[in-house]
Amino acid sequence: MSKFIITEGTPLCGKVRISGAKNSVLPIIAASLLADGQSVIEEIPYLNDVKIMCDLLKSFGAEIDISCEQNILKVNPVNITNTIAPYELVNKMRASFLIAGPVLAKMGMARISLPGGCAIGSRPVDLHLKGFAALGAEISQEHGYIEIKTNGNLKGNKVYLDFPSVGATENIIMAAVMAKGQTVIENAAIEPEITDLVTYLTAMGADIKGAGTDTIRVTGVDRLKGASHTVIPDRIEAGTFMVAAAISGGDVIIENVVPDHLKPVSAKLREAGIEVSEELSSVRVTAGESLKAIDIKTHPYPGFPTDMQAQMTSLMSRAEGTSMVIETIFENRFMHISELKRMGANIKIEGRSAVIEGITSLTGAQVKATDLRAGAALILAALGAKGITEITGIEHIDRGYVRIDEKLKALGATISRVEE
Ligand code: EPZ
Repeated sequence: MSKFIITEGTPLCGKVRISGAKNSVLPIIAASLLADGQSVIEEIPYLNDVKIMCDLLKSFGAEIDISCEQNILKVNPVNITNTIAPYELVNKMRASFLIAGPVLAKMGMARISLPGGCAIGSRPVDLHLKGFAALGAEISQEHGYIEIKTNGNLKGNKVYLDFPSVGATENIIMAAVMAKGQTVIENAAIEPEITDLVTYLTAMGADIKGAGTDTIRVTGVDRLKGASHTVIPDRIEAGTFMVAAAISGGDVIIENVVPDHLKPVSAKLREAGIEVSEELSSVRVTAGESLKAIDIKTHPYPGFPTDMQAQMTSLMSRAEGTSMVIETIFENRFMHISELKRMGANIKIEGRSAVIEGITSLTGAQVKATDLRAGAALILAALGAKGITEITGIEHIDRGYVRIDEKLKALGATISRVEE
């Protein structure tokens, strides 16, 4: 196992280029199963989660060719035979469940290990299954596996999502693209990653209207062909580097972003006294004289993203005044706080709220990453702390950030990856 060692350093300065979006590429790789030919996907972020999704498709019989240098993935699903997603792969990554919709649509049957919870919450899939059932699939569960099957074709239907679940919206769209008739998904998620998936499916020949709104209409077609697609930039990686610039008192240009996708983060950073200026495909983040305490409440897009909550909690640990962070999406997404307190942060958790009394500077300590974004939050705290910080559990961080240590080093951070 390896760890990061971060020494207090100078303010971050320079340019960083953001990679393709993890939460976009995972459903897109799953959707590539639907085609009757090869797809070519560009701006692939070479992450552990991408490797797991590729391993899953290979276990189904798909041909996978990934070029890490050019960040290009070629998927040819024509020889798919298997439709069982084994425990050992699904257990590594919850997003594996996103192959349910495509496999059901293409093969008529999927047998998938029921994804367990994870550090941030129980993460049920009841809304995914509600959608599959509405399309006429029969669902049974035994021995920790969910079996989803249909005799004949899936039929279009209306589905109301009790919560605008990102994954459920994606899975139901993928199940519906070749169903007979029209499917209407109401209270659908409107995250940019949904729109990116729909762009790819449309290029494959799918008939989908309303992506980016809370009502999505899918009219089934007979077949989908392979297509080329370029994945959108990762708005959470971009937001993480925006906070890195802010917490280190730096001045960083973040390239290859969609500024519109960063609006909630830009707005809250400006409220905290950070200067954020936007160009067509980049943002520049310049720390101000002081860092003001602000309140954060996570919401589905276009609200403040839950995936940026931990990072902002780190920033607010150093702000002047008292901040309140409310996490409304996941029930256990404050795991970073106990580690931040080891670095001197003054934070009190009350249910889904965290009250943060900002202090002038954190102090380096030995801390542990419990999940992807908690790990990112600890790196950010270390960038703004006095002394040396050691972060273990960095395999969580590598799941969602492409070479984060090298990107930070290029901005002037003193960070090294060492074997434990
Ligand atoms: C996606 O997870 C992202 N992951 C998450 O990013 C992100 O935090 C989340 O959306 C919210 O934006 C990927 O896209 C791979 P949800 P997903 O279904 O689809 C409840 C990261 O750090 N729910 O929108 O699993 C659920 O318990 C990761 O990159 C149900 O109750 O999120 C949660 O409270 C973490 N029943 C809420 O909805 C369901 O069937 C949001 O979940 C599905 C979800």
